[in-house]
Amino acid sequence: MKTEWVLPELPSAAELSGLTAYDLRCEHRVDPLGIGTARPRLSWRLTSPTRGDRQDAFRVQMLRDGVQVWDSGWRSESATYVDHGGAPLTSQTDHVWQLSVRDAAGEVSSAEATFATGLFHQDEWEAHWIEHDYETDPYFEPPVDRAEPRTVRQATIAPPRHYRRSFELTQPVTRARVYVTAHGLYQFSANGQRIGNDELTPGWTDYRERVAYQTYDVTDVLHEGENVIGAVLGEGWWSGYVGWDTRSHAHHYGKKPQLLAQLVVDHPDGSRTVVATDGRWVEHVGPIRFADLLMGESYDARHELGAWSSPGYDAGDWAPAGDLGGDVSTLIAATTDPVRVTEDVPATAVTALAPGRFIVDLGQNLAGRVRLRVRGAQAGDRIRLRHGEMLQADGELYTANLRTADATDYFVSAGAGEEFFEPIFTVHGFRYVEVDGYPGELTTADVTGRALHSDTPVAGRFECSDPGVNQLLSNIRWGQRGNFVSVPTDCPQRDERLGWTADAQIFLPTAAYQADVLTFFENWFADLAVAQTDEGAIPDVIPHVITGRHGTPAWADAATIVPWTLYRIYGDERVLRTAWPVMRRWVDYVHRANPDLIWRKRTSGHYGDWLQVGVQTDRDVLATAYFARSVEFTAAAAQVLGLADEAAAYGELRDKIAAAFVAEFVDAEGKVRGETQTGYLLPLAFGLLPEQTEQAAVKHLVADLELRGRSLTTGFAGVALLCPILTKYGYAELAYDLLHDDRYPSWGYSIKHGATTIWERWDGWTEENGFGPVAMNSFNHYSLGSVGEWLYGDVAGISQSPESVGFRDLVIKPSPGGRLNWAEASYDTPTGRVTTRWQQSDGTLTLDVTIPPGATATIHIPTTNPNATKESGHPLSQSKDVTLLDPTPDTTICRISSGTYHFTTPA
Ligand code: BGC
Repeated sequence: MKTEWVLPELPSAAELSGLTAYDLRCEHRVDPLGIGTARPRLSWRLTSPTRGDRQDAFRVQMLRDGVQVWDSGWRSESATYVDHGGAPLTSQTDHVWQLSVRDAAGEVSSAEATFATGLFHQDEWEAHWIEHDYETDPYFEPPVDRAEPRTVRQATIAPPRHYRRSFELTQPVTRARVYVTAHGLYQFSANGQRIGNDELTPGWTDYRERVAYQTYDVTDVLHEGENVIGAVLGEGWWSGYVGWDTRSHAHHYGKKPQLLAQLVVDHPDGSRTVVATDGRWVEHVGPIRFADLLMGESYDARHELGAWSSPGYDAGDWAPAGDLGGDVSTLIAATTDPVRVTEDVPATAVTALAPGRFIVDLGQNLAGRVRLRVRGAQAGDRIRLRHGEMLQADGELYTANLRTADATDYFVSAGAGEEFFEPIFTVHGFRYVEVDGYPGELTTADVTGRALHSDTPVAGRFECSDPGVNQLLSNIRWGQRGNFVSVPTDCPQRDERLGWTADAQIFLPTAAYQADVLTFFENWFADLAVAQTDEGAIPDVIPHVITGRHGTPAWADAATIVPWTLYRIYGDERVLRTAWPVMRRWVDYVHRANPDLIWRKRTSGHYGDWLQVGVQTDRDVLATAYFARSVEFTAAAAQVLGLADEAAAYGELRDKIAAAFVAEFVDAEGKVRGETQTGYLLPLAFGLLPEQTEQAAVKHLVADLELRGRSLTTGFAGVALLCPILTKYGYAELAYDLLHDDRYPSWGYSIKHGATTIWERWDGWTEENGFGPVAMNSFNHYSLGSVGEWLYGDVAGISQSPESVGFRDLVIKPSPGGRLNWAEASYDTPTGRVTTRWQQSDGTLTLDVTIPPGATATIHIPTTNPNATKESGHPLSQSKDVTLLDPTPDTTICRISSGTYHFTTPA
């Protein structure tokens, strides 16, 4: 298991002999098993020790079982991806792909990777859905006394059951794969071993339409003779509690969990054995007496089943599973990285509150669970673990903000000396754990936090000289981790944890600097597409549960913003091809309802600039700005897809909306109706203002900030735009003041008061009022962390030119300022890693930049004397690798291609 979630190191220049491909991916994933497409996309990244190096040509050779099935031939292309171009791949086959890349000097280097296809055809499934037979055993045991009165309704949650099947193999095993999923959550085992390290599988999708199956290799686990495969099955999103809805807390998709698995074993003589779920499987309740994502898990070690998934086990008292038949119409191959435990967080402090009752501090708010070590308990002793993000002033756990999420686990000891407890079918958002009923003294060594989230590959890092800013970045990262749990959620702690669309679209640019979130968002977007209403509106939360609301400005606009942003960042046109009908239907919906182009009608819940402070950004201003933005992206998508007529029509519509916006909301002095910060930021960021008005609007924005003593008022919609827009228009120092501010409301205020994640609201806790409104007060929400985009994009200075996609043409434009005297960032673009580091000392600014092979970059170096800028000690005019562009009085501007450069200039 990985113990940290950090950007992997690349080989240093000294270790590289030339152009080298790394991070080979199939369908954007590393060596995936069970892909669902016959024409996968293969991609790779490049690194090189040599300046100006680039990929001149590449070649892919695809082998199936050692036999070449496709040779792309040498292609004189710089692209770092190719779609499989041979005959469509066949189902359930293993492939190796060998990549050769050739540099401009003709040197070739090679790398290889693997993948396996899943089940392409429904008739390949022999598996049936199985479940606990409620006909013969209509009720399930009541859960272990979950004491709190508010848990009464939990009677509808059944104890997870164990399922098993024993079978004989009469021949050796050459290859064995299991394809498995659940309506619910499963953990799979074979011959006494847990299979894989994925958590909360199969993940949350709109199960009515899409149920992902996972593929695991079990070749080394099986053998001739008796074998056993099996699974534990919990409720999860399928039938457990999801969201706050008091009418239907649970059972959003089904009443009881079901399992479906198919093991396919290949033998040396070419024959196959298939063992699939059906009525021959048997099941039994085990030690997990209750499990729910929101409520928690109860584990009674006295009911452990021993080696239940091993051969030789006596399953005499297990009951036959109910066989529900084999409807596999909703199954899809998993397309994105599963949830995993990515880090163990040690406890930092334990405080005794009463005999046997302790508060454990992990020092970090996170989503996950704990592993508890218990020593010296008597059989039947019950330990209760309650989870919370904060402590009250009296040192007790603060749980009011969890609303109806109990977030409580129970462990009942079997009295077996040293015991370990770690729940498997629940997630809590917490920093503190109250351990009650613990025998003896609890120490920090007895409790470990296990951080759990979608294991999106880490793509970036940022660090600077200011500890407060580093803490902010850490809070942003932890906010991302805690809320990317299968789908992008608003929060991990209270009875909500839903895929709110605005939160997702606002945070996406920041998220993408930190992790490769392409498949994560594509998967989520597929659920957005299925939830689009017949009229074209998008529900507020995706996967669509609970809320009847749809079509909310800035929320539903995720329909256009997410695919366009993904396309810009990752350069994969397929995103737009899939999303295009959704984008178009969404903007047409708004247009139909608002033919005068001011978006007033069909605004659904209309949350405005959600959680703004002390002001009201005009809702029509916000909605209409977003309408223009959505239409702009729809036009841009049409352009990329070669739909010239649509591109022209939507382009024209976008300009008309911009004009209508100005006519309706902007006065002659450039004041935008409502005169709020977000009211100015939206049209400035979305380019809706004519040039003369633009400058005036910037002045009004700045004046508002000054009037308030350089204090922000922005909510979710405005906050992401604030620092980037100030920087763009020459007010970086003002942006830095906001960054460093620690008065209320600011990021620094939360940090000053101990925040280790981004709070949902600026007033989550204040000196004046203590905790904010309990009805809605999460301490782990990522939206206000969308300032991360500015840290990577402007402070460290890594962005791309307006025409560029996939960061092929970089803009390196750092903004030294504030209290920082250095900042550095690395980011894995689709082509390779870009790194920047600037430092200011003794009147000199140094800027170290590494550009990946094949990319180009325009470098903007702030200076007091453009003529004195040097690269590796030489005047720029003398460098053959640097092309000087016209400077401005305070900036040296030049073009470079790949490689590492060291600039210095008077600061
Ligand atoms: C969620 C948000 C969401 C909002 C919409 C809240 O309950 O936590 O983040 O966007 O509702 O009103």
